[in-house]
Amino acid sequence: MINNNNIFFNISKLKKLGKNVIIGKTVRVRYPKLVEIGNNVIIDDFTYISTSLKIHNNVHISSGCKIIGGKKSFVEMKEYSTLAPNVVLSAGSDDYIGGIATPMIPFEYKGNVQIGKIVINRHCIVGASSVVLPNVTFYEGSSVGALSLVNKDLEEWKLYVGIPAKFLKDRNKNQILNLEKRYREAINEK
Ligand SMILES: CC(C)(COP(=O)(O)OP(=O)(O)OC[C@H]1O[C@@H](n2cnc3c(N)ncnc32)[C@H](O)[C@@H]1OP(=O)(O)O)[C@@H](O)C(=O)NCCC(=O)NCCS
Repeated sequence: MINNNNIFFNISKLKKLGKNVIIGKTVRVRYPKLVEIGNNVIIDDFTYISTSLKIHNNVHISSGCKIIGGKKSFVEMKEYSTLAPNVVLSAGSDDYIGGIATPMIPFEYKGNVQIGKIVINRHCIVGASSVVLPNVTFYEGSSVGALSLVNKDLEEWKLYVGIPAKFLKDRNKNQILNLEKRYREAINEK
């Protein structure tokens, strides 16, 4: 099942690669040694990853996502979390007020660059074309609809939408956890 024909990075250099992983041929990983991938993971084509990254089991990253911020920034995606197409997780960011943003000049001229982390906890969904800024945590089950801007932590099992993302409604925690329990039983996983 593992696709070793990737054309933009060397899959054998990944820090960890689980079982039953599908990685699109055009996925680009800048620093494979900083990327861990668990079991049952799909990363679809045209996704670009330039951070340290830990992907747990049963995660889906749809096509065209950007997980960016450089190798000193860190992103974690926990079990059953998903990114819809074209999501941007920006774990690091340039100084938009007092710095020179281009990477073509030395770091000392770049101002107050943010080097941070983004944590997407279990059962979180990030809707299509949403942007998540540095140092944001999606607590368990929190999610955002399409085209959202997430600039602060999201509370457990709540659904948010908009720019910036605002609370819309509660998610059905009991139903989702019950579905997970049934699924684990079906595959004989404790
Ligand atoms: C957020 C979402 C799940 C809400 O769906 P829903 O529960 O059926 O909600 P509704 O359609 O009843 O919308 C409720 C309100 O939120 C607004 N709304 C819904 N989605 C919105 C979004 N993404 N951004 C801004 N507002 C949104 C609606 O316009 C409506 O506003 P109103 O009450 O003023 O009319 C859905 O709209 C969405 O964005 N889904 C993401 C889909 C996606 O990205 N799929 C990719 C493949 S997984």
